[in-house]
Amino acid sequence: MRIGHISDLHILELDKPRPQQFLNKRLVGGLNLLLNRSNAHSTEVVQRALEHLDSLDVDHIAISGDLTNLALDSEFAAAEKIVSSIPDAADRVSVVPGNHDYYTPGAVRERRFEKHFANFLHSDLPQYQGDDGYPFCHLRGDVAIIGMNSGIATPWLFATGRVGDEELEQTRLLLQDPEVEKRFKLVLIHHPLLPDDHHSMQFNRRLLNSEEVLRTLRTRDVDLVLHGHNHYFSVFRLPKLGTPGTTFICEAGSTSVQAIGDDPAMAGKFNIYTIEDGELQEVETHLFESHEAGFIPWQTEVFRHQIREE
Ligand SMILES: [Fe+2]
Ligand SMILES: [Fe+2]
Repeated sequence: MRIGHISDLHILELDKPRPQQFLNKRLVGGLNLLLNRSNAHSTEVVQRALEHLDSLDVDHIAISGDLTNLALDSEFAAAEKIVSSIPDAADRVSVVPGNHDYYTPGAVRERRFEKHFANFLHSDLPQYQGDDGYPFCHLRGDVAIIGMNSGIATPWLFATGRVGDEELEQTRLLLQDPEVEKRFKLVLIHHPLLPDDHHSMQFNRRLLNSEEVLRTLRTRDVDLVLHGHNHYFSVFRLPKLGTPGTTFICEAGSTSVQAIGDDPAMAGKFNIYTIEDGELQEVETHLFESHEAGFIPWQTEVFRHQIREE
């Protein structure tokens, strides 16, 4: 089983928003976006990544949130179109929301993310879904993919996340279901569970209950956690709690980044995870080189890992 991981697409679609949509929090986000982000992220780069993944024998594609910038309907429509263009998308894609997909209370209230990505949010074990549809579970071969929601509408200039108490409890139960227990367990969530080389767990952009979530996943035998949010490549491994084995925690970075600075960890990227015999065998990372060359292989194998003991 090979799973492709893309994230933080931040699809720009600024043609249609009405001026009043930029009031309040969106004014800041919109200006910030225009000043900093419009040159950094490219929808074309996302399309190149998907073409590349298509040629690399990938069974499934996981998308760890922030598909939009301002959670506008027009952005969701553009993101939905791209995701739906993946061959056999309804069976081969798992996607969870990020903080940018829950950018305003209105976007959360109207469930814009859930409406646009409804095709990808069905659960094979619906008895564990809360009222908001999370956690969902996709059983694919010998892998169980569990989608969690860490998105919340936040105050101005905040990008924090939180997994709700009910969702965490339902996830605990889901992870004990025999159909899940016997499989390789992969959790997809937007916010990071650990600090990396470039990001501490800053108070205004962290997962508020990261310790509790991480402890739960390690205690419940989770093999691999995929996240986004930091726009930075990282692979960590931690011992599971109460059972032998390793919980890997991985981020590819933002797939849509077209401007390459000095640090390749910041370049546009996707990962491919090879899972065999119930274990993660390999992490293969490709990065965006140029519009001419597209994506090129960067690293293969699990590397830059750090073992962190509690
Ligand atoms: Fe992001
Ligand atoms: Fe984010």
